Amino acid sequence: MITTQQAIQQRRTLKVMADPDKPIAVCKDQEVEFRPVLDELIALAAQAPFHYTCHRSHQSGELSGGLPWRFYILEASDCRELLVHLQAQGIDGGKIMGMLAAAKALIQVTWLPEPMYEDMNQANALYEPSLKNMEHIAAASAAIQNLLLGATAHDLENYWSSGGVLREQPTYDYLNIPEQELLLGAIFLFDKQDTKNHEVTLKGGGLAEQRGEMSSWATYIKKP
Ligand SMILES: Cc1cc2nc3c(=O)[nH]c(=O)nc-3n(C[C@H](O)[C@H](O)[C@H](O)COP(=O)(O)O)c2cc1C
Repeated sequence: MITTQQAIQQRRTLKVMADPDKPIAVCKDQEVEFRPVLDELIALAAQAPFHYTCHRSHQSGELSGGLPWRFYILEASDCRELLVHLQAQGIDGGKIMGMLAAAKALIQVTWLPEPMYEDMNQANALYEPSLKNMEHIAAASAAIQNLLLGATAHDLENYWSSGGVLREQPTYDYLNIPEQELLLGAIFLFDKQDTKNHEVTLKGGGLAEQRGEMSSWATYIKKP
């Protein structure tokens, strides 16, 4: 197993896309074998710091925990089924369709906003711009980063996507995600071997080389 520092350094975005009409075949045995790894990654995510529990309005459904995020986990066969479902509805989600055709897993991560006051509702806002909401998002983001680092340590390629079609109503309905929850990331996990053994298109993170010098975003504060 690699060190934490190595996992952080090695983490990178990689989109792996197969032909949506010729998805990578799912082997049930491999899916069963992979489940403990997925369980481990989800458990790592839960180790993230969080400042507030979610509002009680989020604590009544099937997922009633206090953490300010929810994870909806699709294994490879579920990714392929979602792909077929979207195709059957005539939905073309672009690159997301190719990733559903290739993924070993997809984790839809939502964060749980505080209920909005009335005026905000009328303004059609996504959520109230409060400090508490900012910290809910921060905590859920930390959970995602834990997941990505754990995936990297397991030699899985991974990609944090805003979601595209995966944040839209047909996907929410299909996955039974409550509408009050906001998608923070559609997290794709890919098998490194699949990038070698199958015909796939690969694409890295567009901003990967744009971090700049540390001195452009960090400074030591020294008072004379
Ligand atoms: C909140 C969030 C949403 C993202 N959404 C997308 C996305 O929708 N499409 C995309 O190409 N990359 C997305 N990315 C990945 C970034 O493009 C990627 O992290 C960046 O290019 C740096 O590359 P690296 O991850 O390899 O370091 C997202 C990253 C974050 C943190």
